[in-house]
Amino acid sequence: MSALVVAVDGPSGSGKSSVSREVARRLGLAYLDTGAMYRAATWWCVHTGVPLADQDAVAQAVRDLPLDQGVDPDAPHVVVGGTDVGEAIRTTEISAAVSAVATNLAVRDELRRRQRVAIAVEAAASSFSEGRGIVAEGRDITTVVAPDADVRILLTASEEARLARRARDVHGSDDDAAVEATRDQVLRRDADDSTVVQFHVAADGVVTVDSSDLDFEQTVAAVLQVVAEVSGTR
Ligand code: DC
Repeated sequence: MSALVVAVDGPSGSGKSSVSREVARRLGLAYLDTGAMYRAATWWCVHTGVPLADQDAVAQAVRDLPLDQGVDPDAPHVVVGGTDVGEAIRTTEISAAVSAVATNLAVRDELRRRQRVAIAVEAAASSFSEGRGIVAEGRDITTVVAPDADVRILLTASEEARLARRARDVHGSDDDAAVEATRDQVLRRDADDSTVVQFHVAADGVVTVDSSDLDFEQTVAAVLQVVAEVSGTR
């Protein structure tokens, strides 16, 4: 049987990273977090002193980005130039800066090229020990990076649910103050990102899973069901 490619897109706080990773784990597939690539690119620019407003300099820095990213869902690692940046790319400093890099079209060209290579490597793996495919998640995987993926899913959630989730992740609470502290960053980032990628409405052939009223387990189950239904008809 050929390898399975599952593409998942969605906005901030939709739960797509944790859900996609768990789906990959349960199906024995590789896992590619493309948001981590944009974050690693941003960290690299900040770390090497490249001004984010200088589009050409940022694009050049990203073409040279010495990124080593693992695709094992049980042990994801993001290493840039020998430095493990797994935690550094999740700071509020990087979260606030990442859209400036992700909306640079030359950066997108370079990272999309790398994402397609990573997906192709896993899709070409034929034996069980080499892996049987990949779950790749981000904002433009279903539409631009892997429009031919076997299964394409848009994971959405209401604004209220997304803000509460992100507040719990970042502040450990979803009380009013935590949600308010999260609101500006999440919504502004999605608004900025939406200027170059469309991830709020499912493209043709993409199945929407709305996780607003689902917990983590239920969302994983819903995605697994879509994968079974759609890949069963391959
Ligand atoms: O999913 P995340 O929050 O880790 O994504 C980080 C940033 O990268 C976010 O601002 C959107 C952007 N991104 C993108 O533009 N395209 C992708 N395929 C993945 C992420």
